[in-house]
Parts: sequence; structure tokens; C-alpha cells
Amino acid sequence: MKDTIEPHVTEDGRQIGGVLMEMKNITLRFGGVVAIKDISFDIREGEIRAIIGPNGAGKSSMLNVISGFYHPQEGEVWYRGAPRPPMKPYEVARQGVGRTFQNIALFEGMTVLDNVMTGRLTHMHASIWDQALWWGKAEAEEVHNREQVEKIIDFLEIQAIRKTPVGRLPYGLKKRVELARALAAEPSLLLLDEPMAGMNVEEKEDMSRFILDVNDEFGTTIALIEHDMGVVMDLSDRVVVMDYGKKIGDGTPDEVRSSQDVIDAYLGVPHE
Ligand SMILES: Nc1ncnc2c1ncn2[C@@H]1O[C@H](COP(=O)(O)OP(=O)(O)O)[C@@H](O)[C@H]1O
Ligand SMILES: [Mg+2]
Repeated sequence: MKDTIEPHVTEDGRQIGGVLMEMKNITLRFGGVVAIKDISFDIREGEIRAIIGPNGAGKSSMLNVISGFYHPQEGEVWYRGAPRPPMKPYEVARQGVGRTFQNIALFEGMTVLDNVMTGRLTHMHASIWDQALWWGKAEAEEVHNREQVEKIIDFLEIQAIRKTPVGRLPYGLKKRVELARALAAEPSLLLLDEPMAGMNVEEKEDMSRFILDVNDEFGTTIALIEHDMGVVMDLSDRVVVMDYGKKIGDGTPDEVRSSQDVIDAYLGVPHE
């Protein structure tokens, strides 16, 4: 398997560019548990990169390293061609890395619109005084924030529920609202932790289409964790396969699907 690729145009006409993020020899331990063992891989501009592997393989931990929630004991995270110093999650978000969570993390009592608005927080710069007095900068910022949020709400087709409290929505729509909130921050790199877990077939098809559209329309680079191999095959340009904290495969969906190591550890055995 080739684990690096050159910039190219995909069969469906999307541009895959240079390396946006690179994980170099990452090791992450929790006490005696080694969640990630010396893993290296890159994510290219414009790419949809999947991370697969059995439960406990270290996939969520890897996304948490990328988003600054966890700090690896060894290795380096490179972003836009430079090593990234240890950062807080909000600093990573300001650099253009957005995310959704494996377990939905929305404000259940707030409306869809207000939840999506919270996604703009990383872009709010006006001071309390500006906001209180409603002067120039704050007003311009507020208008721009509203426009962005409305654009995302239209794009993800959730206009009809914009005033509905999130707590009243079915699961599939909550996941879509979470995607909307992440997109409201206009991320360059979007991390999705099992965006389709627990969904029925129709909801999965909708979410797959939205992920492809986001990538295509906004040029957002996407790294996602997903169990459904059909979805992985349909969506992703390249796949990293993890097992017990180690990388056991890296390549195109076809390459990893036919790799004996991957079949033995993951594809050949039942999993959810
Ligand atoms: N915050 C944490 N504290 C202690 N152990 C953790 C923590 N997060 C993850 N782990 C452990 O790291 C390993 C990998 O977990 P995780 O990254 O959630 O796997 P996956 O997402 O592939 O199912 C597991 O053994 C898990 O128990
Ligand atoms: Mg996980």
C-alpha cells in the first residue's frame, strides 16, 4: 500500500492538494494504557480521509490529539507545513480545525438556530463594551455571523426546524445540527467522530450526501471515523486502519479492503 500520494484531481473532479496536517510518530498513553502507538499519517488539502478500526483501537483518541483535547507524550502534529506547539482546543479551533463528537454535544434546551450560532464563537472578536453599546464593529460582526449561520442552515436543509429546541429532534436531525454548528465556524479541516453511528439507512444516506456536498462546495478537508464499510468506500479518498493503537493499513479504500492484515484484524471479524 502507498501511504503517501501526490496532489491530483479525483475521478469525480475534486482537487486533492498538498499536505494539510501530518501526524508524526504519535504515541499517546493513559497511565498504563497505550491508546496510540507510534502512528504517522497525513491528511491532504481537499481530501476525505477515513479512520477505521475495531472499538478501542484509538480512533477517537487520534481525533482528540488532532483537535488539541489530548496531548501525545511522543511525536509531533504538523499543520500547514509547521510543527504545532501544544495548544488548547479553542486555539486549534481558531486555526481552522472543527469537529463533532462521538456522543452528541448540543445544548438541548436551545433552538437549532442558537446552537448553530454557538459555532461562530471562535469568530467573535468584538469586546463586551462594543457589544453592550452596539457600536460599529460588533454590529458588522453580528450581521456577518448571522449570514454565515443562515447559509449553513440552508445548505443542510434545516430551515424548517430552526426555531425548534434541539431536545425535541430525532437523533438523525440532531447529528445534522451538530454538523451545522461545526460548519458555522468555517473550518478548513473538519473532524467527524462516527457521524453516522446509530442512524437508519435513510439518515445515513442523507448524512453521506451532506458530507460529500460540504467537501465539494466549501472545499473542506474532512477526517472521519466510520464503521460502515459501504459508507467508507463511497466517501473516502484514503483510509487509515487502526488496531490496538497501531496503524495496520493506510491507502485507498480498495487497497485497505484487499489487505490481509486489515482483513485479519478488522474486516474479516464481526464488529458494530
Ligand atoms: N480519557 C481517557 N482516559 C483513559 N483511557 C482512555 C481515555 N480515552 C481513551 N482511553 C482508552 O484508550 C483506548 C482507545 O480508546 P478510543 O480512542 O476511544 O478508541 P476508539 O475510538 O477506536 O473506539 C481504549 O483502551 C480507551 O479505554
Ligand atoms: Mg471512538
